[in-house]
Amino acid sequence: MALKNSHMVLVLLGLFLVGLAQLSAGKESAAEKFQRQHMDTEHSTANNSQYCNLMMKARNMTTDKCKSINTFIHETQETVDAVCQEPNISCKNGQTNCHQSSSAMTLTNCVQTGSSEYPNCLY
Ligand SMILES: *[C@@H]1O[C@H](CO)[C@@H](O)[C@H](O)[C@H]1NC(C)=O
Ligand SMILES: *[C@@H]1O[C@H](CO)[C@@H](O)[C@H](O)[C@H]1NC(C)=O
Ligand SMILES: *[C@@H]1O[C@H](CO)[C@@H](O)[C@H](O)[C@H]1NC(C)=O
Repeated sequence: MALKNSHMVLVLLGLFLVGLAQLSAGKESAAEKFQRQHMDTEHSTANNSQYCNLMMKARNMTTDKCKSINTFIHETQETVDAVCQEPNISCKNGQTNCHQSSSAMTLTNCVQTGSSEYPNCLY
């Protein structure tokens, strides 16, 4: 019994260490990346002229280079999840993992200004 328990503790410790290693490797899942780059439920719309400058920076899209175009979605997680349940349609980039919302959604497109250069990314 005591032996079994100590084995259990070792297995749990092993799993814990694997989990810790994954955490410190900092691998971001596709879903986490989508959340970071595109979800903004906090604001119901772009609330001021600095919105893109602030948000692109806050969401780490100006860390290594200026991401030139990015769309923020001002809808709840439930609304976005529901759209992803709709049938796939072709995306503008030719991929087929796009989905058409049946109702209008509030979005903000952030586009880098032509003259701004990394690390001073302006939108
Ligand atoms: C826009 O939202 C940010 C973050 O919530 C807030 O700090 C700021 O005061 C807001 N600006 C306006 C003009 O509402
Ligand atoms: C942006 O990067 C910093 C430093 O790596 C990190 O602490 C922060 O959590 C990141 N922010 C987001 C929204 O992922
Ligand atoms: C449909 O979209 C989902 C993601 O939204 C994707 O995982 C899946 O591969 C797509 N299906 C096809 C046939 O492209």
